[in-house]
Amino acid sequence: MKIKSILTITVVLLTSQLLKGQATGNAVTDLLLSAYSERNYTTQPVTDQQLEMILNCGIKAPSARNQQPWRFTVIKDEAAMKEIISNVVAGNVLIIISGAESQTGTTPDFDCGLAAESMFVAAHALGLGARIYGSPAGNINSKRDVYQVPAGFKAVVVLRVGNVEKPVDAVSSATPRKAFDEIVNFKK
Ligand SMILES: Cc1cc2nc3c(=O)[nH]c(=O)nc-3n(C[C@H](O)[C@H](O)[C@H](O)COP(=O)(O)O)c2cc1C
Repeated sequence: MKIKSILTITVVLLTSQLLKGQATGNAVTDLLLSAYSERNYTTQPVTDQQLEMILNCGIKAPSARNQQPWRFTVIKDEAAMKEIISNVVAGNVLIIISGAESQTGTTPDFDCGLAAESMFVAAHALGLGARIYGSPAGNINSKRDVYQVPAGFKAVVVLRVGNVEKPVDAVSSATPRKAFDEIVNFKK
């Protein structure tokens, strides 16, 4: 792509973010405000270095009492991935995030959500797409040995990671959020 086209697209994206009050000039908050849950991926493979960085960001997530009540099962085989999410493409990676089953006084499912979000954000920070899936958990848990979910853990969510067409208009591609005033109230 010519430099002029790249510059034009960059200006359009930045302008649309500024108009929506979404550009802050901070890399992390800009990423959080513009990332979305991609549905369409290219077959360009996620590299081992990218995957390792994403997994390390999940391991680094906070958890109640630092119990780290999670295990991550990585699936790269296309046929195995398709049994979990039918429209995956070669080059995607699935990460099954499983939570400890018998933890009292802690919150494994919530902690798994935090690990999933850290990996979701890390994937986007690396220029990849990502989407969290809750619906496959039941199927995975009915065949835990097939998916190599460790004993004492159950699948909570699956994170899909892959390459996406770039540049993407993340602002218009994300589904709308409820209004600030509907979500937030300030105690008087
Ligand atoms: C806990 C959780 C479970 C989800 N489960 C599914 C799912 O089963 N299938 C699916 O297509 N998307 C699933 N999603 C993705 C959401 O639909 C998506 O994050 C939401 O619509 C916002 O999308 P956007 O950021 O692109 O606007 C899930 C997201 C979360 C956080």
